[in-house]
Amino acid sequence: MAKKPWDGRFSEKTDIIVEDFTSSIDIDKRLYSYDIQGSIAHCRMLARTSIISEEDASSLIEGLGIIKREIDRGDFRFDKSLEDIHMHIETGLIEKVGKVAQKLHTARSRNDQVALDVRMYLRAETLNTIERLVMFEKVIVDLSKTHIDVVLPGYTHLQKAQPILLSHHLMAYYEMFSRDVDRFSDCLKRINVMPLGSAALAGTTYPIDREYTAGLLDFPEVSANSIDAVSDRDFIIEFLSAASICMVHLSRMSEELILWSSSEFGFIELPDSFATGSSIMPQKKNPDVPELVRGKTGRVFGDLISLLTIMKSLPLAYNRDMQEDKTALFGTVDILKECLEIYIKMLPKLKINKEVMRLATSTGFLNATDMADYLVTRGMAFRQAHGCVGKAVAYASSKKKELHELTLEELKSFSSHIKKDIFDILTTEQMINRRKSIGGTAPENVKDAIDRAEKDIAVNIEGLFVDDE
Ligand code: ARG
Repeated sequence: MAKKPWDGRFSEKTDIIVEDFTSSIDIDKRLYSYDIQGSIAHCRMLARTSIISEEDASSLIEGLGIIKREIDRGDFRFDKSLEDIHMHIETGLIEKVGKVAQKLHTARSRNDQVALDVRMYLRAETLNTIERLVMFEKVIVDLSKTHIDVVLPGYTHLQKAQPILLSHHLMAYYEMFSRDVDRFSDCLKRINVMPLGSAALAGTTYPIDREYTAGLLDFPEVSANSIDAVSDRDFIIEFLSAASICMVHLSRMSEELILWSSSEFGFIELPDSFATGSSIMPQKKNPDVPELVRGKTGRVFGDLISLLTIMKSLPLAYNRDMQEDKTALFGTVDILKECLEIYIKMLPKLKINKEVMRLATSTGFLNATDMADYLVTRGMAFRQAHGCVGKAVAYASSKKKELHELTLEELKSFSSHIKKDIFDILTTEQMINRRKSIGGTAPENVKDAIDRAEKDIAVNIEGLFVDDE
């Protein structure tokens, strides 16, 4: 069992069951490179402010580098009795550089250290998330472009409503994911605040230079209140909220992929490489990938609720409850990453059954609104026209026909306003082409939306590229 930094105060050894219970190393070891980077910056600052000597700082930095390489290679020994990644690295450092290692923790506490590590980790992961989202937007826009001539029924209440372009439907998802990009970018501002130097909760008596540390670690801002800095987890909650909303979008898309690939719809076919079969029913091709994306969404919501619940009654400042934040955060980061990656690969391989989609627009009275609009242009009030077409639908339905399959005479029996030209506007093409209002499904609108999206994506990709440098 390793020696504890607090052994001086205690007369009994920690019970093994307590070591297991309090240890977080299995979870937080993924923070090691940020912990080391943060410690190196801290050392530099301590030397610059003459709190430790340059010589001591150099040995500490050298030792930290050795530990980093050991962990990278998988040669570092993890031990539950050392609790967390911070204690592991500090203890490892004693083995590498001896007594001087004991100076590393001057003017800081694990409370501000863990806040720093998580912020650095989440800053990188948020940028990765944004990058993946932009790639996914590109996939969606490319698909919209390729299938610009595909029509299908749009639905409300999962009942056929009006015909739309498939590209218009896909571009609705583009809008959702571009709001997600905005949300994650906005989160980034609040993640990007440097907490180190808040120490346990009240700041420190040493003449530290927090702005210097922030500069070394590329933080544009230092936290303003030491108590808040060590007890704030809002930035994680925000990320989990943005991730939950993003998962809602992925889950809705999944639901449609599942429905559309059913034999009842038959609108699409999932690629064989992204589907699974049944162990008993030879005919089956199951949409397990979208089902799992939909299912994992529940876990992401769970992570958000879990952190909100962990935080809601905590007195200021740090409490050990907060150690549980990482289980929630890492879980969500992994799920979101995986779901986006799999959809980026899968979506371009979808088989679009253009003919089935088109055929579906020819039944279900999708042109009823257009017939009512026709009557309005001929002077009827919309409510009256609505009633009139309602009757026509009931009549056609009883004859097992669609509105455009009725004869002119039959149609005229519902209103004297009806002339032969009504048939021109009852076609799927016309219904789509005439919906030119801003944001409507007319092809020219959708093409413009695709153009705008392509420009935005190009700007975003350029921005990400610059940030990476
Ligand atoms: N493993 C702890 C966490 O993740 C680090 C902070 C420990 N601070 C303390 N006062 N025990 O929250």
